[in-house]
Amino acid sequence: MFIFVAVHSTVRGPALGGCRLWTYDDARLALRDVLRLSEGMTYKAACAGLAMGGGKGVIMARPGVPLDAVRRRAALEDFGDAVAALDGEYLTAEDVGVTPADMEVVATRTAHVTGRAGGSGDPSPWTALGVQAAIEAACEVRFGTPELSGRSASVVGLGHVGLPLARGLAAAGCSLVVADLDPDRRADAEALGARWATPDEALTARVDILAPCALGGQLDHSIVPRLRCAIIAGAANNQLADASVADALDDADVLWAPDFVCNAGGIVNIGVELRPEGYDPEQAGRDVAVIGKTTRTVLAAARARGTTPLAAAMALAAERLAPPG
Ligand code: NAI
Repeated sequence: MFIFVAVHSTVRGPALGGCRLWTYDDARLALRDVLRLSEGMTYKAACAGLAMGGGKGVIMARPGVPLDAVRRRAALEDFGDAVAALDGEYLTAEDVGVTPADMEVVATRTAHVTGRAGGSGDPSPWTALGVQAAIEAACEVRFGTPELSGRSASVVGLGHVGLPLARGLAAAGCSLVVADLDPDRRADAEALGARWATPDEALTARVDILAPCALGGQLDHSIVPRLRCAIIAGAANNQLADASVADALDDADVLWAPDFVCNAGGIVNIGVELRPEGYDPEQAGRDVAVIGKTTRTVLAAARARGTTPLAAAMALAAERLAPPG
């Protein structure tokens, strides 16, 4: 078993990023993942204006080697020791494959664990709030009004973020198409009055807003010609299969709000926990709402400069990471 901690940048503050427990065929794939994810966290924190850098943890499980309770605890303790060795340069949190109970094990070895119960807690509802603020901003840029009432949206992935987002959009008056690989989610969809669809139908639905909230990489060159939405803004990390898809979306007249701008609500919430005055949910609400403003700034800059939203967001991150002077 390998454990990786990547610290991509501490220019703006300690490197923050979750710990992912995932099965990889090869340690090189895990290393590539942790480096790529930590870099993404740097841009996410910089665009959100947080005094934090980007980092990430990966606990690599091996195919065919089940992680029983004893091995899992040992891996989490080793991860905690690695975090402790960095002495605050890296702050960890929960990520894919890791539970709140797992993070309590990590916290037996290091104080640098964020997002625990009693602190800022589950980031997902905050991520959903931030995505909704980003959707409103994208509507304002695209349609001239942030009003969601009467709009149509498709939410792909009804998990910890997708479900509260779908609830928020329904409450704001959007008609919804939703999809999830897990058929048990259908009951949630029906409770919202949403139309249940297959993931492919939901991705290509004729809607105002597409919100990818499952895994990354769903937007590639084969899907772009089939899209029938005006805006894409969602929670999934690394939505674009590669950066050139940003140009294809632009050419297809689809306004893509960059994922690392939209989905920063969770780390913004952690940022509130790290303030000297401690965690305050009202402050978190105010801070997460700023994601709407940032999205508007990025999309407007892209329009004004004739670049893609991805290029505008990267330029904003670069500006905020540049040394003063
Ligand atoms: P989750 O695991 O709770 O939910 C993902 C849902 O998507 C699951 O219900 C799963 O069955 C479904 N799914 C997977 N593949 C699918 C497919 N091809 N088509 C349709 N549904 C599919 O994950 P969570 O926490 O809701 O995160 C969603 C995305 O947002 C991930 O990409 C995550 O990295 C990203 N994200 C989450 C944050 C958070 O605060 N939870 C913060 C920032 C990003």
